[in-house]
Amino acid sequence: MDRLRDKVVLVTGAGSGIGQACAELFAEEGGKVVVEDINGNAAERVAEGIRAFGCKAIAVQGDVSVAADAQRMVDAAVNEWGRIDIVVSNAGVQRVVESIELLPEEDWDHVIDVNLKGGYLVSKAAIPYMKRDGGGVIVFTGSEMGFIADPQLPVYNASKGGLHMLMKSMAINLIKHNIRVNAFCPGETDTPLLQSEIDNSPDPAKTKAEYDAWAPIGRMASPREQAYVALFLASDESSFVVGSTYLADGGFTSSI
Ligand SMILES: NC(=O)c1ccc[n+]([C@@H]2O[C@H](COP(=O)([O-])OP(=O)(O)OC[C@H]3O[C@@H](n4cnc5c(N)ncnc54)[C@H](O)[C@@H]3O)[C@@H](O)[C@H]2O)c1
Repeated sequence: MDRLRDKVVLVTGAGSGIGQACAELFAEEGGKVVVEDINGNAAERVAEGIRAFGCKAIAVQGDVSVAADAQRMVDAAVNEWGRIDIVVSNAGVQRVVESIELLPEEDWDHVIDVNLKGGYLVSKAAIPYMKRDGGGVIVFTGSEMGFIADPQLPVYNASKGGLHMLMKSMAINLIKHNIRVNAFCPGETDTPLLQSEIDNSPDPAKTKAEYDAWAPIGRMASPREQAYVALFLASDESSFVVGSTYLADGGFTSSI
C-alpha cells in the first residue's frame, strides 16, 4: 500500500483507461495524484473516486499538446503539494486509416501533437522542478506499436516509435540529475480507446474476437495490469532501470 508514499504524481490522460488505472493505483500506493485529462469532467470524476477512497487527488483539465496547459498541469502539482516527483505521460490518441494517402493532414498533426509533442511538453515543464528537488521519474506510455508496424496505423506507429526514442535520449541525458526516464509499452488493452476501434470496425464482433486472440496469452490486458507495470517503473523498486521500453503485451511481439 505504500510503494509511492507521499510522492507527488501527475498522470496525463487519466480520465479513462490506462491513465485512470494508473491514477487510482498510484493513489492507493500512497501517492498524491494530479488527475489530468482534456476531458475535465472525466478527470474530476476519477479524482472524486480516489478521494472517496480516502486517498489524495486533484483534477486538472488541459491539453498536453498545448505548452501553456502542460505547464499549468505541472504547476498544479507544485502549487498543491510543493513538488513533482513522478510524471506518467500517458495521454494518447489513435487514427485508423486504410492507407497513408487517405490520412488527413490534421489527423497526422493531431496524433503526433498529442502522442509525441505532448510527452515533450509535459517533461519540459516538469524537469526544472525535478532538477531543483534532486530528481524524479518520468514514465511514458509507449506501445507494442512502437516496435511493430500495423498497416492501418501509420501515424500511430510513427508517434510511438518516436516516443520510444525521445524517452531513450532523455533517459541517458537526465540520469545524471537523478531523473529516471522509461516507457511501459502495452499490448492490446481493454480501454475505451480500443473499444471505439472495435465499435467503428465493419464487423465489431469479429474485431473483438481478433483482439482477444491477438497475443499468445489469448485475451486483452486490463488497464490495471498495465498500471502495475507503470507503478514498478515509477517506484524505487526499478532504481536501476533507465531508458527501458518495458513490454506488457501478453507475448505478442515475441510471437512474430
Ligand atoms: N488500449 C490499448 O490497447 C493501448 C495499447 C498500447 C498503448 N496504449 C496507449 O495507452 C495510453 C492510454 O490509452 P487508453 O487505451 O487508456 O485510451 P483512452 O482513450 O481510454 O484514454 C486516453 C485518455 O487521454 C485523454 N486525452 C486525449 N487527448 C488528450 C490531450 N490532448 N490532452 C490530455 N488528455 C488527452 C482522453 O480524454 C482519454 O481520457 C495512450 O497513450 C495509448 O496510445 C493503449
